[in-house]
Amino acid sequence: MTRKINIFDTTLRDGEQSPGASMNPDEKLVITRELLRMNVDVIEAGFPISSPGDFKAVRSIAEEVGDRAVVCALSRAVAKDIESAADALKYCERPRIHTGIGVSPSHLHDKLRITEDAAIERAVDAVKLARSYVDDVEFYAEDAGRSDYEFLARIIQEVIKAGATVVNIPDTTGYSLPEEFGRRIKYLMEHVDGIEDATVSVHCHNDLGMATALALQGVKNGATQIECTINGLGERAGNTSMEEVVMAMKMHGNELDAHTDIVTTELTRASRLVSSITGIPVQPNKAIVGANAFAHSSGIHQDGVIKKRDTYEIINPADVGAGGSSIILTARSGHAALHERLKALGYDYEGDALDRLYERFLDVADKKKEVYDEDLEALVGEHDRAASAVYSLKAVQISCGSPLIATATITLADREGNETTDVAYGTGPVDAVYKAVNKIVKVENDLTEFSVQSVTRGIDALGEVTIRITAPDGEVFSGRGADNDIVVSSAKAYINALNRLINKLTASQGHPKQTPQDLPPEE
Ligand code: KIV
Ligand code: ZN
Repeated sequence: MTRKINIFDTTLRDGEQSPGASMNPDEKLVITRELLRMNVDVIEAGFPISSPGDFKAVRSIAEEVGDRAVVCALSRAVAKDIESAADALKYCERPRIHTGIGVSPSHLHDKLRITEDAAIERAVDAVKLARSYVDDVEFYAEDAGRSDYEFLARIIQEVIKAGATVVNIPDTTGYSLPEEFGRRIKYLMEHVDGIEDATVSVHCHNDLGMATALALQGVKNGATQIECTINGLGERAGNTSMEEVVMAMKMHGNELDAHTDIVTTELTRASRLVSSITGIPVQPNKAIVGANAFAHSSGIHQDGVIKKRDTYEIINPADVGAGGSSIILTARSGHAALHERLKALGYDYEGDALDRLYERFLDVADKKKEVYDEDLEALVGEHDRAASAVYSLKAVQISCGSPLIATATITLADREGNETTDVAYGTGPVDAVYKAVNKIVKVENDLTEFSVQSVTRGIDALGEVTIRITAPDGEVFSGRGADNDIVVSSAKAYINALNRLINKLTASQGHPKQTPQDLPPEE
Protein backbone atom coordinates (compact mmCIF):
# COMPACT_ATOMS: atom_id res chain seq x y z
CA MET A 1 0.00 0.00 0.00
CA THR A 2 1.35 3.45 -0.88
CA ARG A 3 1.45 6.36 1.59
CA LYS A 4 -1.76 8.34 2.06
CA ILE A 5 -1.14 12.01 1.14
CA ASN A 6 -3.49 14.43 2.85
CA ILE A 7 -5.10 17.02 0.62
CA PHE A 8 -5.27 20.40 2.36
CA ASP A 9 -7.49 22.68 0.31
CA THR A 10 -6.85 26.41 0.63
CA THR A 11 -9.19 27.67 -2.15
CA LEU A 12 -11.17 29.60 0.48
CA ARG A 13 -8.06 31.29 1.93
CA ASP A 14 -5.02 31.46 -0.41
CA GLY A 15 -7.34 31.02 -3.41
CA GLU A 16 -9.43 33.95 -2.27
CA GLN A 17 -6.25 36.08 -2.32
CA SER A 18 -6.36 35.98 -6.16
CA PRO A 19 -7.43 39.44 -7.35
CA GLY A 20 -11.18 39.36 -8.03
CA ALA A 21 -11.75 36.00 -6.34
CA SER A 22 -13.49 37.26 -3.23
CA MET A 23 -16.43 35.09 -2.22
CA ASN A 24 -19.36 35.81 0.05
CA PRO A 25 -20.19 33.48 2.98
CA ASP A 26 -22.93 31.63 1.05
CA GLU A 27 -20.59 31.03 -1.87
CA LYS A 28 -17.95 29.71 0.53
CA LEU A 29 -20.47 27.24 1.89
CA VAL A 30 -21.34 26.04 -1.61
CA ILE A 31 -17.63 25.40 -2.26
CA THR A 32 -17.25 23.75 1.15
CA ARG A 33 -19.99 21.25 0.25
CA GLU A 34 -18.18 20.41 -2.96
CA LEU A 35 -14.87 19.99 -1.09
CA LEU A 36 -16.65 17.54 1.22
CA ARG A 37 -18.03 15.61 -1.76
CA MET A 38 -14.46 15.41 -3.01
CA ASN A 39 -13.37 14.06 0.38
CA VAL A 40 -10.58 16.56 1.07
CA ASP A 41 -8.79 16.01 4.38
CA VAL A 42 -8.35 19.62 5.51
CA ILE A 43 -10.23 22.80 4.56
CA GLU A 44 -8.45 26.08 5.23
CA ALA A 45 -11.54 28.21 5.79
CA GLY A 46 -10.02 31.67 6.20
CA PHE A 47 -7.92 34.14 8.15
CA PRO A 48 -10.26 35.20 10.98
CA ILE A 49 -8.38 38.30 12.18
CA SER A 50 -8.45 39.76 8.64
CA SER A 51 -12.12 40.82 8.67
CA PRO A 52 -15.40 40.19 10.52
CA GLY A 53 -16.62 38.48 7.32
CA ASP A 54 -13.73 36.00 7.35
CA PHE A 55 -14.25 35.30 11.04
CA LYS A 56 -17.93 34.50 10.46
CA ALA A 57 -17.14 32.43 7.37
CA VAL A 58 -14.75 30.21 9.37
CA ARG A 59 -17.46 29.69 11.99
CA SER A 60 -20.14 28.74 9.51
CA ILE A 61 -17.82 26.49 7.50
CA ALA A 62 -16.84 24.64 10.70
CA GLU A 63 -20.52 24.13 11.48
CA GLU A 64 -21.23 22.81 7.96
CA VAL A 65 -18.24 20.44 7.98
CA GLY A 66 -18.89 18.78 11.37
CA ASP A 67 -16.49 15.84 11.72
CA ARG A 68 -16.11 15.22 7.99
CA ALA A 69 -12.80 17.12 7.63
CA VAL A 70 -10.34 19.17 9.63
CA VAL A 71 -11.14 22.90 9.48
CA CYS A 72 -8.13 25.15 9.64
CA ALA A 73 -7.86 28.88 10.40
CA LEU A 74 -4.80 30.98 9.54
CA SER A 75 -2.97 33.36 11.86
CA ARG A 76 0.36 35.15 12.02
CA ALA A 77 2.62 34.35 14.99
CA VAL A 78 0.77 37.07 16.86
CA ALA A 79 -1.30 36.46 20.01
CA LYS A 80 -4.41 38.37 18.88
CA ASP A 81 -4.48 36.44 15.55
CA ILE A 82 -4.23 33.10 17.33
CA GLU A 83 -6.94 34.07 19.82
CA SER A 84 -9.21 35.14 16.97
CA ALA A 85 -8.54 31.86 15.09
CA ALA A 86 -9.30 29.88 18.28
CA ASP A 87 -12.51 31.84 18.79
CA ALA A 88 -13.62 31.29 15.18
CA LEU A 89 -12.98 27.55 15.62
CA LYS A 90 -14.68 27.37 19.04
CA TYR A 91 -17.51 25.07 17.88
CA CYS A 92 -15.43 23.14 15.35
CA GLU A 93 -15.29 19.36 15.75
CA ARG A 94 -11.82 18.96 14.23
CA PRO A 95 -10.10 22.36 14.59
CA ARG A 96 -6.60 23.25 13.44
CA ILE A 97 -4.79 26.57 13.96
CA HIS A 98 -2.25 27.40 11.25
CA THR A 99 0.32 29.85 12.53
CA GLY A 100 3.76 30.86 11.34
CA ILE A 101 6.45 33.38 10.59
CA GLY A 102 8.86 34.32 7.79
CA VAL A 103 12.14 32.40 7.80
CA SER A 104 14.14 33.54 4.75
CA PRO A 105 16.90 36.18 5.08
CA SER A 106 14.64 38.58 3.20
CA HIS A 107 11.72 38.04 5.60
CA LEU A 108 13.90 38.14 8.72
CA HIS A 109 16.02 41.16 7.84
CA ASP A 110 13.78 43.28 5.62
CA LYS A 111 10.21 42.46 6.66
CA LEU A 112 10.35 41.39 10.31
CA ARG A 113 13.69 43.04 11.21
CA ILE A 114 14.47 40.40 13.80
CA THR A 115 17.25 37.90 14.41
CA GLU A 116 16.95 34.16 13.76
CA ASP A 117 16.78 33.51 17.52
CA ALA A 118 13.98 36.05 17.97
CA ALA A 119 12.04 34.40 15.13
CA ILE A 120 12.40 31.01 16.83
CA GLU A 121 11.19 32.48 20.11
CA ARG A 122 8.11 34.01 18.44
CA ALA A 123 7.38 30.79 16.56
CA VAL A 124 7.62 28.68 19.71
CA ASP A 125 5.42 31.09 21.71
CA ALA A 126 2.84 31.10 18.91
CA VAL A 127 2.71 27.31 18.70
CA LYS A 128 2.42 27.00 22.50
CA LEU A 129 -0.39 29.55 22.60
CA ALA A 130 -2.22 27.81 19.75
CA ARG A 131 -1.77 24.45 21.52
CA SER A 132 -3.42 25.91 24.61
CA TYR A 133 -6.61 26.16 22.50
CA VAL A 134 -6.49 23.17 20.13
CA ASP A 135 -4.65 19.84 19.84
CA ASP A 136 -3.86 20.22 16.16
CA VAL A 137 -1.44 23.06 15.33
CA GLU A 138 0.22 23.60 11.98
CA PHE A 139 3.31 25.81 11.75
CA TYR A 140 4.21 27.52 8.45
CA ALA A 141 7.77 28.62 7.79
CA GLU A 142 6.97 31.41 5.34
CA ASP A 143 9.36 31.69 2.38
CA ALA A 144 11.07 28.44 3.40
CA GLY A 145 11.98 27.97 -0.28
CA ARG A 146 14.59 30.75 0.03
CA SER A 147 15.72 30.03 3.59
CA ASP A 148 18.97 28.76 5.04
CA TYR A 149 18.81 24.95 5.43
CA GLU A 150 20.29 24.86 8.94
CA PHE A 151 18.13 27.66 10.30
CA LEU A 152 15.03 26.11 8.75
CA ALA A 153 15.84 22.77 10.41
CA ARG A 154 16.41 24.54 13.75
CA ILE A 155 13.08 26.41 13.76
CA ILE A 156 11.15 23.33 12.59
CA GLN A 157 12.71 21.24 15.35
CA GLU A 158 11.81 23.85 17.99
CA VAL A 159 8.17 24.19 16.88
CA ILE A 160 7.74 20.42 16.87
CA LYS A 161 9.13 20.35 20.42
CA ALA A 162 6.64 23.13 21.30
CA GLY A 163 3.73 21.01 20.08
CA ALA A 164 3.28 21.57 16.32
CA THR A 165 1.55 18.53 14.83
CA VAL A 166 2.03 19.64 11.22
CA VAL A 167 4.98 21.54 9.77
CA ASN A 168 4.36 23.42 6.54
CA ILE A 169 7.33 24.15 4.27
CA PRO A 170 6.06 26.73 1.77
CA ASP A 171 7.79 27.93 -1.33
CA THR A 172 5.94 31.21 -0.83
CA THR A 173 7.49 32.96 -3.81
CA GLY A 174 7.52 29.96 -6.18
CA TYR A 175 11.29 30.43 -6.51
CA SER A 176 12.70 26.92 -6.17
CA LEU A 177 13.55 24.34 -8.77
CA PRO A 178 11.72 21.07 -8.08
CA GLU A 179 14.86 19.00 -7.38
CA GLU A 180 16.25 21.60 -5.03
CA PHE A 181 12.94 21.83 -3.17
CA GLY A 182 12.93 18.03 -2.85
CA ARG A 183 16.47 18.16 -1.40
CA ARG A 184 15.26 20.70 1.17
CA ILE A 185 12.48 18.37 2.34
CA LYS A 186 14.91 15.42 2.44
CA TYR A 187 17.36 17.50 4.50
CA LEU A 188 14.61 18.28 7.03
CA MET A 189 13.56 14.62 7.17
CA GLU A 190 17.17 13.70 7.98
CA HIS A 191 18.14 16.54 10.33
CA VAL A 192 15.08 17.36 12.44
CA ASP A 193 14.59 15.24 15.55
CA GLY A 194 10.99 14.20 16.02
CA ILE A 195 9.93 15.07 12.45
CA GLU A 196 8.72 11.48 11.99
CA ASP A 197 5.96 12.23 14.53
CA ALA A 198 4.75 15.32 12.63
CA THR A 199 3.00 15.64 9.28
CA VAL A 200 5.24 17.41 6.77
CA SER A 201 3.27 19.66 4.44
CA VAL A 202 4.23 21.47 1.23
CA HIS A 203 2.63 24.72 0.04
CA CYS A 204 4.03 25.83 -3.32
CA HIS A 205 3.32 28.87 -5.45
CA ASN A 206 3.36 28.89 -9.22
CA ASP A 207 5.52 31.92 -10.04
CA LEU A 208 7.74 29.86 -12.36
CA GLY A 209 4.91 27.55 -13.43
CA MET A 210 6.31 24.72 -11.31
CA ALA A 211 3.98 24.50 -8.31
CA THR A 212 2.77 21.01 -9.19
CA ALA A 213 6.31 19.71 -9.77
CA LEU A 214 7.50 21.31 -6.51
CA ALA A 215 4.71 19.72 -4.48
CA LEU A 216 5.34 16.29 -6.00
CA GLN A 217 9.09 16.53 -5.31
CA GLY A 218 8.15 17.37 -1.74
CA VAL A 219 6.03 14.21 -1.56
CA LYS A 220 8.78 12.11 -3.14
CA ASN A 221 11.12 13.23 -0.39
CA GLY A 222 8.88 12.72 2.62
CA ALA A 223 5.98 15.19 2.69
CA THR A 224 2.58 13.64 3.40
CA GLN A 225 0.36 16.69 2.98
CA ILE A 226 -0.07 18.93 -0.07
CA GLU A 227 -1.68 22.37 0.20
CA CYS A 228 -3.49 23.24 -3.00
CA THR A 229 -6.46 24.98 -4.55
CA ILE A 230 -9.10 24.23 -7.15
CA ASN A 231 -7.95 25.55 -10.55
CA GLY A 232 -4.63 26.60 -8.94
CA LEU A 233 -6.13 29.86 -7.65
CA GLY A 234 -3.99 31.80 -5.21
CA GLU A 235 -1.76 34.75 -4.56
CA ARG A 236 -0.07 36.11 -7.76
CA ALA A 237 0.47 33.22 -10.24
CA GLY A 238 -1.47 30.97 -7.90
CA ASN A 239 -0.97 27.88 -5.81
CA THR A 240 -0.51 24.18 -6.58
CA SER A 241 -3.57 23.02 -8.49
CA MET A 242 -5.46 20.24 -6.72
CA GLU A 243 -6.60 18.52 -9.90
CA GLU A 244 -3.02 18.30 -11.17
CA VAL A 245 -1.38 16.84 -8.07
CA VAL A 246 -4.26 14.46 -7.40
CA MET A 247 -4.22 13.06 -10.94
CA ALA A 248 -0.40 12.90 -11.00
CA MET A 249 -0.51 10.78 -7.84
CA LYS A 250 -3.26 8.63 -9.35
CA MET A 251 -1.21 8.04 -12.51
CA HIS A 252 2.18 7.64 -10.80
CA GLY A 253 1.21 6.34 -7.36
CA ASN A 254 3.86 3.63 -7.26
CA GLU A 255 6.79 5.82 -8.32
CA LEU A 256 5.76 8.47 -5.79
CA ASP A 257 4.68 5.95 -3.14
CA ALA A 258 1.56 8.06 -2.76
CA HIS A 259 -2.20 8.01 -3.04
CA THR A 260 -5.02 10.34 -1.99
CA ASP A 261 -8.63 9.71 -0.99
CA ILE A 262 -9.97 12.36 -3.38
CA VAL A 263 -13.04 11.42 -5.42
CA THR A 264 -11.49 12.31 -8.78
CA THR A 265 -14.80 12.20 -10.67
CA GLU A 266 -15.70 15.45 -8.85
CA LEU A 267 -12.66 17.36 -10.20
CA THR A 268 -14.35 18.85 -13.27
CA ARG A 269 -17.47 19.86 -11.38
CA ALA A 270 -15.37 21.49 -8.63
CA SER A 271 -13.38 23.40 -11.24
CA ARG A 272 -16.53 24.72 -12.97
CA LEU A 273 -18.13 25.59 -9.66
CA VAL A 274 -15.15 27.60 -8.42
CA SER A 275 -14.79 29.31 -11.77
CA SER A 276 -18.46 30.21 -11.81
CA ILE A 277 -18.43 31.53 -8.23
CA THR A 278 -15.20 33.51 -8.47
CA GLY A 279 -15.75 34.67 -12.05
CA ILE A 280 -12.19 33.57 -12.87
CA PRO A 281 -12.27 31.53 -16.08
CA VAL A 282 -10.22 28.38 -16.52
CA GLN A 283 -7.79 28.62 -19.44
CA PRO A 284 -8.91 26.19 -22.18
CA ASN A 285 -5.55 24.36 -22.20
CA LYS A 286 -5.45 23.94 -18.40
CA ALA A 287 -4.32 20.42 -17.47
CA ILE A 288 -7.11 18.05 -16.34
CA VAL A 289 -10.01 20.53 -16.24
CA GLY A 290 -9.52 22.88 -19.22
CA ALA A 291 -12.10 22.77 -22.02
CA ASN A 292 -9.43 21.35 -24.37
CA ALA A 293 -7.90 18.88 -21.91
CA PHE A 294 -9.48 15.97 -23.78
CA ALA A 295 -10.02 17.58 -27.20
CA HIS A 296 -8.12 16.09 -30.13
CA SER A 297 -7.98 18.33 -33.17
CA SER A 298 -5.24 16.98 -35.44
CA GLY A 299 -6.33 14.26 -37.85
CA ILE A 300 -3.51 11.92 -36.82
CA HIS A 301 -4.47 12.22 -33.15
CA GLN A 302 -8.17 11.74 -33.87
CA ASP A 303 -7.38 8.63 -35.91
CA GLY A 304 -5.24 7.27 -33.04
CA VAL A 305 -7.87 7.94 -30.37
CA ILE A 306 -10.60 6.34 -32.49
CA LYS A 307 -8.45 3.20 -32.85
CA LYS A 308 -7.51 3.11 -29.18
CA ARG A 309 -8.19 5.87 -26.66
CA ASP A 310 -4.87 5.65 -24.85
CA THR A 311 -2.77 6.35 -27.95
CA TYR A 312 -3.14 10.04 -27.13
CA GLU A 313 -5.09 10.11 -23.86
CA ILE A 314 -3.41 9.22 -20.58
CA ILE A 315 -6.53 9.89 -18.52
CA ASN A 316 -10.01 8.59 -19.15
CA PRO A 317 -12.15 11.81 -19.13
CA ALA A 318 -14.79 9.95 -17.10
CA ASP A 319 -12.24 9.54 -14.26
CA VAL A 320 -12.24 13.30 -13.72
CA GLY A 321 -15.96 13.74 -14.37
CA ALA A 322 -15.44 15.24 -17.84
CA GLY A 323 -17.10 14.25 -21.07
CA GLY A 324 -20.66 15.32 -20.37
CA SER A 325 -23.63 13.04 -20.28
CA SER A 326 -25.89 11.49 -22.84
CA ILE A 327 -28.96 12.89 -21.04
CA ILE A 328 -30.08 16.13 -22.64
CA LEU A 329 -33.09 17.96 -21.26
CA THR A 330 -35.63 19.74 -23.46
CA ALA A 331 -38.69 21.94 -22.87
CA ARG A 332 -40.69 18.71 -22.55
CA SER A 333 -38.65 17.61 -19.50
CA GLY A 334 -40.59 18.00 -16.28
CA HIS A 335 -39.67 19.11 -12.76
CA ALA A 336 -38.64 15.56 -11.82
CA ALA A 337 -36.25 15.21 -14.76
CA LEU A 338 -34.61 18.53 -13.92
CA HIS A 339 -34.39 17.56 -10.24
CA GLU A 340 -32.78 14.19 -11.12
CA ARG A 341 -30.27 15.72 -13.55
CA LEU A 342 -29.29 18.43 -11.05
CA LYS A 343 -28.88 15.78 -8.37
CA ALA A 344 -26.61 13.75 -10.64
CA LEU A 345 -24.56 16.93 -11.09
CA GLY A 346 -24.33 17.31 -7.31
CA TYR A 347 -26.98 20.01 -6.71
CA ASP A 348 -29.87 19.16 -4.43
CA TYR A 349 -32.54 21.81 -4.99
CA GLU A 350 -36.08 21.39 -3.64
CA GLY A 351 -39.21 23.51 -3.21
CA ASP A 352 -39.10 27.18 -4.22
CA ALA A 353 -35.47 27.02 -5.33
CA LEU A 354 -36.28 24.15 -7.70
CA ASP A 355 -39.36 26.01 -8.99
CA ARG A 356 -37.30 29.11 -9.73
CA LEU A 357 -34.66 27.04 -11.50
CA TYR A 358 -37.34 25.20 -13.48
CA GLU A 359 -38.80 28.50 -14.70
CA ARG A 360 -35.38 29.66 -15.91
CA PHE A 361 -34.73 26.23 -17.42
CA LEU A 362 -37.96 26.44 -19.47
CA ASP A 363 -37.01 29.91 -20.59
CA VAL A 364 -33.69 28.63 -21.92
CA ALA A 365 -35.14 25.37 -23.29
CA ASP A 366 -37.74 27.30 -25.28
CA LYS A 367 -35.02 29.27 -26.99
CA LYS A 368 -32.27 26.69 -27.46
CA LYS A 369 -34.22 23.40 -27.56
CA GLU A 370 -31.54 21.16 -25.99
CA VAL A 371 -30.21 21.97 -22.53
CA TYR A 372 -26.82 20.43 -21.65
CA ASP A 373 -25.14 19.94 -18.28
CA GLU A 374 -22.98 23.03 -18.89
CA ASP A 375 -26.15 25.10 -19.43
CA LEU A 376 -27.62 23.76 -16.18
CA GLU A 377 -24.43 24.66 -14.33
CA ALA A 378 -24.61 28.20 -15.71
CA LEU A 379 -28.24 28.45 -14.53
CA VAL A 380 -27.34 27.12 -11.08
CA GLY A 381 -24.51 29.70 -10.86
CA GLU A 382 -27.00 32.44 -11.76
CA HIS A 383 -29.52 31.15 -9.21
CA ASP A 384 -26.93 31.04 -6.39
CA ARG A 385 -25.67 34.51 -7.22
CA ALA A 386 -29.24 35.83 -6.98
CA ALA A 387 -29.39 34.72 -3.32
CA SER A 388 -26.94 37.43 -2.25
CA ALA A 389 -28.04 40.04 -4.77
CA VAL A 390 -28.54 43.62 -3.65
CA TYR A 391 -29.89 44.57 -7.09
CA SER A 392 -31.45 42.26 -9.65
CA LEU A 393 -32.17 42.84 -13.32
CA LYS A 394 -35.88 43.11 -14.08
CA ALA A 395 -35.79 44.33 -17.67
CA VAL A 396 -33.37 45.44 -20.32
CA GLN A 397 -34.24 46.89 -23.67
CA ILE A 398 -31.78 48.18 -26.25
CA SER A 399 -31.85 49.73 -29.62
CA CYS A 400 -28.67 49.78 -31.63
CA GLY A 401 -27.32 49.46 -35.12
CA SER A 402 -25.67 51.66 -37.70
CA PRO A 403 -26.19 54.64 -37.88
CA LEU A 404 -28.36 54.44 -34.73
CA ILE A 405 -27.07 55.65 -31.35
CA ALA A 406 -27.05 52.68 -28.98
CA THR A 407 -29.62 53.29 -26.25
CA ALA A 408 -30.44 51.10 -23.25
CA THR A 409 -33.41 51.17 -20.88
CA ILE A 410 -32.80 49.26 -17.68
CA THR A 411 -35.09 48.32 -14.78
CA LEU A 412 -33.47 47.09 -11.57
CA ALA A 413 -35.13 45.92 -8.35
CA ASP A 414 -33.51 46.33 -4.94
CA ARG A 415 -33.82 43.83 -2.06
CA GLU A 416 -37.12 45.34 -0.94
CA GLY A 417 -38.56 44.90 -4.42
CA ASN A 418 -38.53 48.63 -5.31
CA GLU A 419 -38.03 49.02 -9.03
CA THR A 420 -36.13 51.85 -10.74
CA THR A 421 -35.88 52.45 -14.46
CA ASP A 422 -33.34 54.62 -16.26
CA VAL A 423 -32.06 55.15 -19.75
CA ALA A 424 -28.65 55.95 -21.23
CA TYR A 425 -26.92 55.97 -24.58
CA GLY A 426 -23.41 54.78 -25.28
CA THR A 427 -20.83 53.89 -27.90
CA GLY A 428 -22.42 50.44 -28.27
CA PRO A 429 -25.18 48.38 -26.61
CA VAL A 430 -23.01 47.10 -23.75
CA ASP A 431 -21.65 50.58 -23.01
CA ALA A 432 -25.23 51.93 -22.99
CA VAL A 433 -26.35 49.15 -20.61
CA TYR A 434 -23.49 49.85 -18.20
CA LYS A 435 -24.19 53.58 -18.24
CA ALA A 436 -27.89 53.03 -17.53
CA VAL A 437 -27.02 50.70 -14.61
CA ASN A 438 -24.58 53.31 -13.27
CA LYS A 439 -27.35 55.91 -13.22
CA ILE A 440 -29.31 53.66 -10.81
CA VAL A 441 -26.48 52.06 -8.77
CA LYS A 442 -24.22 54.93 -7.94
CA VAL A 443 -21.08 53.04 -6.90
CA GLU A 444 -17.76 54.24 -8.23
CA ASN A 445 -15.74 51.64 -10.17
CA ASP A 446 -13.71 51.05 -13.34
CA LEU A 447 -14.58 48.30 -15.74
CA THR A 448 -11.22 46.62 -16.31
CA GLU A 449 -12.01 43.39 -18.14
CA PHE A 450 -14.81 42.06 -20.28
CA SER A 451 -15.01 38.68 -22.01
CA VAL A 452 -17.73 36.59 -23.64
CA GLN A 453 -17.68 32.83 -24.02
CA SER A 454 -20.30 30.41 -25.22
CA VAL A 455 -21.32 27.84 -22.61
CA THR A 456 -21.84 25.08 -25.20
CA ARG A 457 -21.40 24.86 -28.95
CA GLY A 458 -23.86 26.17 -31.57
CA ILE A 459 -25.42 29.47 -32.59
CA ASP A 460 -28.17 29.10 -29.96
CA ALA A 461 -25.71 28.50 -27.08
CA LEU A 462 -25.93 30.50 -23.86
CA GLY A 463 -23.41 33.32 -23.89
CA GLU A 464 -21.56 33.77 -20.62
CA VAL A 465 -20.03 37.16 -19.88
CA THR A 466 -17.27 37.57 -17.30
CA ILE A 467 -16.27 41.03 -16.21
CA ARG A 468 -13.97 42.56 -13.65
CA ILE A 469 -14.41 45.93 -12.03
CA THR A 470 -11.95 47.76 -9.81
CA ALA A 471 -13.11 49.71 -6.77
CA PRO A 472 -11.42 53.05 -5.90
CA ASP A 473 -9.27 51.26 -3.24
CA GLY A 474 -7.90 48.94 -5.95
CA GLU A 475 -9.85 45.83 -4.95
CA VAL A 476 -11.03 43.81 -7.94
CA PHE A 477 -14.51 42.24 -8.16
CA SER A 478 -15.60 39.85 -10.83
CA GLY A 479 -19.09 39.14 -12.10
CA ARG A 480 -20.72 36.60 -14.37
CA GLY A 481 -23.97 36.42 -16.25
CA ALA A 482 -25.39 33.89 -18.71
CA ASP A 483 -28.23 34.30 -21.19
CA ASN A 484 -29.16 33.52 -24.76
CA ASP A 485 -28.66 37.24 -25.45
CA ILE A 486 -25.16 38.48 -24.70
CA VAL A 487 -26.28 42.03 -23.98
CA VAL A 488 -28.53 40.62 -21.22
CA SER A 489 -25.57 38.46 -20.03
CA SER A 490 -23.46 41.64 -19.91
CA ALA A 491 -26.05 43.45 -17.80
CA LYS A 492 -26.30 40.46 -15.43
CA ALA A 493 -22.50 40.16 -15.15
CA TYR A 494 -22.11 43.85 -14.35
CA ILE A 495 -24.89 43.77 -11.73
CA ASN A 496 -23.32 40.63 -10.20
CA ALA A 497 -19.95 42.40 -9.86
CA LEU A 498 -21.62 45.52 -8.40
CA ASN A 499 -23.51 43.33 -5.90
CA ARG A 500 -20.21 41.82 -4.73
CA LEU A 501 -18.65 45.25 -4.38
CA ILE A 502 -21.66 46.58 -2.41
CA ASN A 503 -21.81 43.46 -0.19
CA LYS A 504 -18.11 43.82 0.56
CA LEU A 505 -18.46 47.50 1.42
CA THR A 506 -21.35 46.71 3.73
CA ALA A 507 -19.68 43.69 5.38
CA SER A 508 -16.37 45.41 6.01
CA GLN A 509 -17.95 48.76 6.94
CA GLY A 510 -14.99 50.52 5.43
CA HIS A 511 -12.39 47.98 6.69
CA PRO A 512 -11.28 46.03 3.64
CA LYS A 513 -10.30 42.37 4.18
CA GLN A 514 -6.57 41.88 4.48
CA THR A 515 -4.21 39.06 3.59
CA PRO A 516 -1.39 37.98 5.97
CA GLN A 517 0.93 39.94 3.66
CA ASP A 518 -1.12 43.16 4.05
CA LEU A 519 -0.92 43.16 7.81
CA PRO A 520 2.16 44.34 9.67
CA PRO A 521 4.34 41.44 10.84
CA GLU A 522 4.33 42.70 14.45
CA GLU A 523 1.40 43.36 16.75
O1 KIV B 1 2.49 31.15 0.69
C1 KIV B 1 2.56 31.10 1.94
O2 KIV B 1 3.65 31.03 2.52
C2 KIV B 1 1.32 31.13 2.69
C3 KIV B 1 1.40 30.94 4.17
C4 KIV B 1 0.55 31.93 4.88
C5 KIV B 1 1.09 29.51 4.49
O3 KIV B 1 0.26 31.25 2.11
ZN1 ZN C 1 0.46 30.77 -0.04
